[in-house]
Amino acid sequence: MAGRSVVVGVGHYLPERVVPNSEFEKTLDTTDEWIKTRSGIERRHFAAEDETTSDLATNAAEAALADAGLTADDIDAIIVATSTADLTFPSAATMVQARLGMTKGFAFDVQAVCAGFVFALSNANALILSGQAKRVLVIGAETFSRIMDWSDRSTCVLFGDGAGALVLELQEGEGTSDDRGILSTDLNSDGRYKDLLYVDGGVSTQSTGHLRMQGNQVFRHAVEKLAKTANTALENVGLASTDVDWIVPHQANIRIIQGTAKKMGLPIENVVVTVQDHGNTSAASIPLALSVGKQRGQIKQGDLIVTEAIGGGLAWGAVVLRW
Ligand code: ACO
Repeated sequence: MAGRSVVVGVGHYLPERVVPNSEFEKTLDTTDEWIKTRSGIERRHFAAEDETTSDLATNAAEAALADAGLTADDIDAIIVATSTADLTFPSAATMVQARLGMTKGFAFDVQAVCAGFVFALSNANALILSGQAKRVLVIGAETFSRIMDWSDRSTCVLFGDGAGALVLELQEGEGTSDDRGILSTDLNSDGRYKDLLYVDGGVSTQSTGHLRMQGNQVFRHAVEKLAKTANTALENVGLASTDVDWIVPHQANIRIIQGTAKKMGLPIENVVVTVQDHGNTSAASIPLALSVGKQRGQIKQGDLIVTEAIGGGLAWGAVVLRW
């Protein structure tokens, strides 16, 4: 017998405003065709002016709790993966905690940019397996529209806002890879690559700043590192990519998604793809894709899923879980 962190609920929230690629043609030297061909993105959602990351996160959390048939009182901990929290402090997670009416347990944010949700899942799993929490709400939520340089066509067309959430619950398994729940995690970072993807501001440098990215350099790292971390996480539990029902990747670029699947020897039919509708929502993209994948009828109980993500840091990783 072995304890497992099993997904018992999933949900997401997208801001109302949908922005098609054509909207950027009005202000930038770009085209719908370029954005679609180079990134796979067709549209994205942007938060309203008065809508914050904790608003998106709370809506996604409520959807996940409803899906699980649970209330906030049933939750021991909340982790929000975000790089765009409402305030410098407190954490977005404690703001969600208050909004859900939860007065016990604990809440904190995790910041690993686009890999944030993978890092948050791994941390939630560690809390559950070490007996510090029985049920954890793990949320990815971002308002990247707030850190865009709207004059930089190489970045501002790529990102969107949104949130997704999972409820993880301690359940007993057999200790084999047939168990439901998180089976393996693999986390990595290499701070030497900071200049490839960063925000040129922050509290300690006294500004909010804008996202800066050497996209083609990040691209080069992405496919290789993502396939490697996904395969490592699978090998850790004696599985191979041929066992995988669904890759649920970070949704940054369709060409990275296709390249990673190919390197893992899997067809695109085994990948949940939402990048066309959401753009890159950073830490929110994986839980959004899990929720949409379930809604579409792609992801079913018992399916073997590998999630993988890379982002600023660089930081990257993968989680293998049986739904
Ligand atoms: N419209 C038209 N032309 C453009 C645009 C645009 N929106 N953006 C850039 N271009 C031009 C460039 O200026 C360049 O022109 P030049 O050749 O005259 O200099 C040309 O297109 C090619 O630019 P590249 O950057 O080489 O294009 P590439 O094919 O690499 O695609 C992209 C760019 C989409 C950014 C891609 O590199 C990518 O997806 N990179 C990875 C992004 C990623 O995964 N990030 C990680 C997660 S994000 C996070 O952690 C926050």
